[in-house]
Formats: sequence, C-alpha cells, structure tokens
Amino acid sequence: MEKYFLVDEWNVIEEGFNPDKNRLTESVMSLGNGYMGIRGNFTEYYSGDSLKGTYIAGVYYPDKTRVGWWKIGYPEYFAKVLNAPDFTTIDVYIEDERLDLAKVKFKKFKRTLNMKTGCLNIEFTICDGKNRETEIKTKKFISMAKGEVAAISYSITPLNYDGKIELIPLIDGDVSNEDSNYGEKFWDEVEKNVDGLYGYITMKTKKLDFFVCTSMKYDVYCSGNKNKTEIEPIVKEKYVGSKYKTYCNIGETITLYKYAAVTSNRYYKNEELVSKGKEILEEAFLKGFDNLFEEHSKALEHQWKESDIVIDGDVESQQAIRFNIFHLNQTYNGKDPRLNIGPKGFTGEKYGGSTYWDTEAFCFPFYLSTHDKSVARNLLIYRYNHLEKAKENAKKLGLKGALYPMVTMNGEECHNEWEITFEEIHRNAAISYAIYSYVRYTGDEEYLSDYGFEVLVEISRFWESRVNYNPLKDKYMILGVTGPNEYENNVNNNWYTNTMAAWNLSYTLKVCEILKKKYPEKYKVLKEKLKLQDIEFEKWQDIINKMYYPYVESLKIFEQQDGYMDKEQKLVSELSKDDLPLNQNWSWDRILRSCFIKQADVIQGIYFLNERYDLDTIKRNFDFYEPRTVHESSLSACIYSIIASQIGYQNKAYELFLRSSRLDLDNYNNDTNDGLHITSMAGTWMTITQGFGGMKVINDMLCFKPYVPSKWKSYSFKILFREHLLKIDVKKDVITIYQERGNEFIIKVFDDEYTVPQNGSVIIKK
Ligand code: BGC
Repeated sequence: MEKYFLVDEWNVIEEGFNPDKNRLTESVMSLGNGYMGIRGNFTEYYSGDSLKGTYIAGVYYPDKTRVGWWKIGYPEYFAKVLNAPDFTTIDVYIEDERLDLAKVKFKKFKRTLNMKTGCLNIEFTICDGKNRETEIKTKKFISMAKGEVAAISYSITPLNYDGKIELIPLIDGDVSNEDSNYGEKFWDEVEKNVDGLYGYITMKTKKLDFFVCTSMKYDVYCSGNKNKTEIEPIVKEKYVGSKYKTYCNIGETITLYKYAAVTSNRYYKNEELVSKGKEILEEAFLKGFDNLFEEHSKALEHQWKESDIVIDGDVESQQAIRFNIFHLNQTYNGKDPRLNIGPKGFTGEKYGGSTYWDTEAFCFPFYLSTHDKSVARNLLIYRYNHLEKAKENAKKLGLKGALYPMVTMNGEECHNEWEITFEEIHRNAAISYAIYSYVRYTGDEEYLSDYGFEVLVEISRFWESRVNYNPLKDKYMILGVTGPNEYENNVNNNWYTNTMAAWNLSYTLKVCEILKKKYPEKYKVLKEKLKLQDIEFEKWQDIINKMYYPYVESLKIFEQQDGYMDKEQKLVSELSKDDLPLNQNWSWDRILRSCFIKQADVIQGIYFLNERYDLDTIKRNFDFYEPRTVHESSLSACIYSIIASQIGYQNKAYELFLRSSRLDLDNYNNDTNDGLHITSMAGTWMTITQGFGGMKVINDMLCFKPYVPSKWKSYSFKILFREHLLKIDVKKDVITIYQERGNEFIIKVFDDEYTVPQNGSVIIKK
C-alpha cells in the first residue's frame, strides 16, 4: 500500500512528477463516457515509461489464443479491447526541438483528476536542456453529453525566452496493444486526409472489420502576433497531423483547442463514418470548448445528483467513494445492450475489456439502484442475447443447456485456462442471481416472461447435466470445479457452487409458478419454445432435495469444498509481510496446497443468500474464513465488509471498506499500473449502502439497518427504488429518509415500518 495522491473531497491530485508512478497515475486519472475512454496520459510526447491507451467500447480483436498445451474445448481466440487511434496527443516543438517530457526538468507539476466536473488537468513548468522555461496547462474531457466527442484545451507560455513554437495536433493510428499475443498490430489504414485545421483517419481492424473514423479540428488563440502563423499538413502512414507554427514573445500564451470525434461502424454505416464524424466535430467546434465543457459537466452533475455519497468527517473515505462512483459512471451508461463492463473499463488492457461474472455479481446492484431500471435491464438483455452462444458453449463441453462464458465479448468464451474455462462454472448462477435481483428490486416480473425464464431454464438444464448422482450417499455432487476462490482448482463439491446451483434450480421452479399464475399464455408459448418437460421439473426438484453440502461438524461451519479441512490450517496473520501478495511471491503449487483463500467464497454464498442464515451461522463462518483470506482479488474485501457490518464487526467492516474503496488510490495489490479495478468499485458502493446502511429489499419492501462507522460523523447516499429517488441521511443518533421524487410509500428501518411522504421525509431517532 502506498499513499501517493493528495487527499481531497472532489479531486485526485498528483503533485510533483514521479516517472516511476507514471503508469499508476495514468490509470487513476483515466476518463471515459461509456462509449470510449482514455488513460490519463500526457498530451505531449513522452519517451519514458507509459501505457498509452485509447479505448472504444465494443471494438475488440480476436487475438489468436496462445497456450502451451492445447485442450479440447479451448477457445480459438482471446478477445481484446483494442488500443485505438490516439486523438489526445499534441506534439510540441520549441525552436525546432521536439518536446519530450522525459527529458526535461519539472519546476512545478500538478496532475489532477477533477471528479466533480469530469476533467483531467495537467499543469507544469518545465526547464529544458537549453534552460528555456515553459509553462503548459492542459485540460481534457470526454463528453458525457455527446458520446463521440472529446476536447482538449492546451496552453503554452514561454517564460524566459522569445522563440518559435510549433504545435502539432495529430491522430496516430499506428498504435498497438502491449498484451498482443503475437506482437501483431491490429489496425489497417483505410483513408485519411488533412485540410487546414481539420483532419481524419479511418482505420479498420484486421479481423472482424470494425471501422473507426477518428477526426479532429482545432483552433488557436494567441495573445501575440497572429500574422506570423503558418499551418502545414503532415500526412504519414497511419498518421495525420496539422502543424501550427508561430513565434512567441516572453509571457505570451498560445491556447490550442483540439476537438475530436470518434465514429465507428458499431453505430453508422462504413460510408457514413467520415461525414458523420465531420458533422459531429463541426457541431462541437461551433459550440466551443467552454460550452462543450459546460454541457458535459451538467450531464455529470445530474449523475452526481442521483448517485453521490457524502461522508462527513473523513476526507479519505469521501475521496475514495467518489473515485469509485465516478469511474463506474464513466465506464457504463447502459444505453447500448451490446456493451458491458470490463474489469478494467477503459483504463487498461488487462482482462481484455471483456465481460466477467463481475458484472452480475458485483456491478449490477450499483446500476440498479442509481440509474433508471433500463440500465440494469440492458445488462440482463446482454446475456439474453448471448443465450444461443452459451448453449453452444455447453455443448462444446459435452453438457446440456447453457454455460455462459467466464470471459466474453460477443457471447463466445475466450478464456483459456482449463481450471477457469471449464471449471469456474459458478458464474452461471450469478447470471440467474442478477435476474432474481432485478425482479426483486424493480418488481418487473414481466421481464421473466419476456426474457428471464429462457435464460433460467437453459442454465438449469446445464446444472442438471453437470451434477452427478452418488447412490452410496444418495446425494448429488458437483465435481471438478473452481469456486470463486481461484487459489483452489479442480475441487469437488465447492460449497458455494453447490449452494448456488441448487438455489438456481429452485428459483427457476419458482419463476415457473409465477409465470403459470400471472402470464399463463406467455408461459404456454415459452414451454413449447423451450420444449420443457414436466420430468425436467421433477429432476430439478430431486437435485434440490438431495444436493450435497460439505460441512465441518466440529466447527459448525460450511466447508469450502471436500477436503478443505485436510489442509494445514494457518492464518494470514501468521504470514510474513514478504509473502504477500501470495500471487506475486509464492509458486502456484504452494498456493494451491495452502489453506489461503483469494476472495470471498463461502462468504460470497452467505452474502447472496443472506436471508437463509441466522447471525450465529454467519458469524461462525466469517470468523473462520476471513482470517484465512488474503483478499488478492479486488472483489473480496467488499463482500467481507458487508458481512462484517451485518454481524456487528464495525471496525473490521470499516478496515475492509477502506481496502476496497482505496484499492487503486493506494495501490493495495500493487497492480493498478495495469488499469483500475472497475468492477470491484461497485462492490465498494455496496459496502456503504448494503453494509453500513444495511439496505435490502425483502418482500417488496426497501429495508435499512444503518449505522455510522466510528471514524465518520455522518453520511448520506442516494437510491433510486421503483420511481422513488431517496436520500438516506445517517447520523449517529438520527436517520432521515428524504423522498426527492416519487409518491408516498412504506419502508422499513430496523424493525419498524414508516411511510415516506411525497416530497417529504421521515425522521427516525435511534
Ligand atoms: C477474480 C475473478 C474475477 C476476475 C476479473 C480474478 O482475479 O478471481 O473472480 O472475475 O479477476 O475481475
């Protein structure tokens, strides 16, 4: 863990440049708008260590799989979100010398991510090899109001010299991915042009034919003599630039506004890309930087109004939770059901920008409670649209029904480690669980008849074919799996997997009853479409009745899997600091044989099916498993924190909240250079709303059991629940629930019910 960034309620600040931390800062200061994103790179050329990144949602490349030993069932490719043509760079020449920020001395330096207005500011004064001092200020944003637009304001002032300054706003299509399996470049050039202040380049991916047109236009304001300026086009392979040359006197400032538009054939026809790009760009250009920025910040302001969490008494926590919410809103806007949430969002290449179970298991509640229900629904529709591919995937493994992939872009599996691809099948249950959460939260049962039931049935068929019956024990077993704890592979009867599989079957049967009763006509059609047999229901019920669950009788806890208790039992507190993180210090063999747990596994099940377990059971399992968990997945601390809150372990809950919320800001796992842990950020949001706030929906009713962590004075959060926009304000002795939008309705706080009036509030004294 390292404290590198300054603490501030609305900003993340890097003061003084440290080249060793450049990748970390670039990750932390990424920007996005759901359609595209950029890492917080410098605007100028920088020859030092950096991961340049421009990403466009859904534009990916099927990079041929690379494995040592091929196994039948492996996917042919790993989908990668592509590093796309770079529109952010402005090349600078001072007296014919190219400015390279790796070769100058910084006299002042500040890089700031402003989360309130959604922009990146980089301001510094540099001294070059010829003792010329130059002040540079950059401000950039990706528009939240207009998905295809980004803009940069770039000001440069010579402080102790007069001289020639050339600025080259450019588009560089000669980009690559660091994680390319065979060192290949993924883009071909299609066409390009530069005409005065306007230029564009259309590139096409070598496979799958994604066409992307990146266009730019700029404008320059000089405080000095405008007559002595010249403009020169620069066209090279996969590159367009427009050189703006001028002469500056000491103290004169040149400000260049660069506007960019990115159009792709995901939304337009190939032949329209250039003209559409030009049209969008022209509109942005005419609005001008300040107006565009205002429009963008207004869109963000609206999001903050509906999803902010305000903490009084702890600026570190305040900064952290805003950082998490900011990046979640930058990553996914829920408007396009073909898009999803990659574990790194638009902040890096790792995990290929693909969809994992993270979406359903961790991200879903955030979008469900802070956005219109169409957003969460689109996440479900994404999987519905992949159902046929999930069926093919199960078939490929010799199984029935649907097995959703562990990692995917278009519904096809692209993960290729057997212990995950074939064995981490618990992911299927998370998809059903998201359907369940959606219906429970929104009350939209019609979703089940329109889409949900088909997915539930096919997943249930998968479970039916994946269990095996052991006649000696008269029990169903699920063998050869990897649970959420990826530090164990090929285990038998992972408690979590067995529990969720049986839950999944019972939920499908329950939905069946709902449909029969409420949508009988649609049910008839679905039964036919799915060729559903009553015998299947009987079989599912039999599996539910006879599922095997490993249990440690002496400790009265669920056993993570068969044989877990055969391991040498040690606690994380007994490890030396040098051992951690285990995945960077221990051999895989040593990790597999140890009792140490990567992330919530039994506790993940207790979190999902929480109402089933009494507090003593939850406590016993928490007390046993938490001290053995190293939290080396970003998805771990949040779940443990929520459960710690539930059982009254408030200090532990707070410690785990910090670990989850400041994971990237303080680089806890020493891996933020690769990009941010976007999906776990939603888990952080849950630690406050579901953990400290004790929020749940039980029998159609919104319930809270809030408390204030001892380090805080108070906090408040916003929830959108069935057309009711609520602000829950929690102080040590009083809880106030304001209804900002919606009609009167009933909620539960602790054990009592309260009516929340329209435009009014309920005050509950503790
Ligand atoms: C976790 C998985 C997760 C993946 C992507 C892994 O480290 O163990 O549960 O799906 O990261 O976030």
